[in-house]
Amino acid sequence: MITAQPLVSEFTVVGKLEDLVISSKGCVKYLYLSSQEEDYSIEVAKQKKLLSQNLQPGCHLKVTGMRKYKLHQEKVEYKAYRIELLPEPATVDNVIATTKSKAKVLICQGSSCWKNGGKTACELLQIELQAKGITDKVEIKTTGCLKQCKQAPNLVIMPGNNRYSRVQPKQLSQLIAKHLS
Ligand code: FES
Repeated sequence: MITAQPLVSEFTVVGKLEDLVISSKGCVKYLYLSSQEEDYSIEVAKQKKLLSQNLQPGCHLKVTGMRKYKLHQEKVEYKAYRIELLPEPATVDNVIATTKSKAKVLICQGSSCWKNGGKTACELLQIELQAKGITDKVEIKTTGCLKQCKQAPNLVIMPGNNRYSRVQPKQLSQLIAKHLS
């Protein structure tokens, strides 16, 4: 028997803010959060627009919201309704973890991006990182739709929220040299 997942359900994630997308008015539109299990790209609901100075990459957040499964597009969208800034205990482990935090490449796994070069970019990136011997310094993560589907494939290089659209395979080594070497 096949068990159907609910199309819409609540989620709560606790994790570290890796990066954020800010509107021209200084409000936070998207959060990129990493937890021990997974990385998340989370849209901030309109009524919860936060001023960007309240959030800085590296801070710890508890985010609650709604998760929507888009079955046909094989993706999950997250929308935050509640965002709490958590105090970070100043332990040695935290200091080590912060110091060692890896650079990340988020590759959109939404269907437009994945079908239009995202999958290939993901595979080529892995090969390039291996060839350069920097797989221990850079992590490749896939993410949900980044809302730039017409400019697929999209990826984001962090830290720095460096967003690239219509990425071509031949661009990848330049991007690695610019941001990750
Ligand atoms: S599918 Fe990649 S931006 Fe929407």
